[in-house]
Amino acid sequence: MTGSERRPTDDAIQTVAAALTKSKRYATVAPDVVHRLAERALVSAGGNVTEGVKRTKRSLHEIYGAYLPGSAAQYGGMLRQLRAALDQGEDAVTEALRSAMSAHASSRERLPYLTEFYAQALAGVTPETVSDLACGLNPLAVRWMGLPAGCTYLASDIDARQMEFLDEALDLLGVPHRTRLHDLVDGPGESAEVTLLLKTVPCMERQQSGAGWALLEKVRSPTLIVTFPTKSLGQRSKGMFQTYSTAFEEYAADRTWRYERFEIPNELVYVIRR
Ligand SMILES: C[S@@+](CC[C@H](N)C(=O)[O-])C[C@H]1O[C@@H](n2cnc3c(N)ncnc32)[C@H](O)[C@@H]1O
Repeated sequence: MTGSERRPTDDAIQTVAAALTKSKRYATVAPDVVHRLAERALVSAGGNVTEGVKRTKRSLHEIYGAYLPGSAAQYGGMLRQLRAALDQGEDAVTEALRSAMSAHASSRERLPYLTEFYAQALAGVTPETVSDLACGLNPLAVRWMGLPAGCTYLASDIDARQMEFLDEALDLLGVPHRTRLHDLVDGPGESAEVTLLLKTVPCMERQQSGAGWALLEKVRSPTLIVTFPTKSLGQRSKGMFQTYSTAFEEYAADRTWRYERFEIPNELVYVIRR
């Protein structure tokens, strides 16, 4: 906020946040994220609450809603399908997980390449803990990751309903795990031997300049897998490979990290070791 931008009143922020709580689409987003976005929206709307509500919704769409189906994700149905599949055998479970992952644009795009993605990204590591930050529905790919039995999966994102769903799904799959609501603007949180930060740096940069790149520094993991989208959601390539590879490699050049790079369609992958 600059000197000329007045901090909105707490009342105005509460009013905008309350309106979002009533909206079907955003009611289960972490309250601290809604408050943060509401405050910024009110600043840019000059304190106008109606405009603040509109702008907060627009921001939430950009950082969260755009990845999900137009109508609410059917988490209850996905759990029923997974439960039934567990009685039917491996192929049915694979199909149920693939179908659930297709409800989030980021995991949907990765579906055809899951096996090669994880074989390369996790080659040679046998972690006891994996942290999946801003995870979306990627934790459902755990069976493709080849993790050692007993590895604990830590999953976090900003939607309470999505985290409850993942909690139940990972229970059903017998994967030791913890899920939680976590705003990455506050840093990565818990340490783990492997951290996944998939397609999320640009999304964090949109929320606070520097917040995405800073995560690479703040994550306390010997192995960090960070990826960047190389196609926009509308499938138009906009020189994103060039933009993100240059930005990442310039950032890494000032640091003492070892890293490998590879690509799958739609995604540029760096495996950083330190
Ligand atoms: C591009 S998607 C990537 C999802 C997942 N990592 C994947 O690649 O399958 C970005 C994710 O960031 C989450 N997100 C957005 N802002 C966040 C924040 N401030 N803190 C934590 N997660 C956030 C969104 O809900 C969304 O699931």
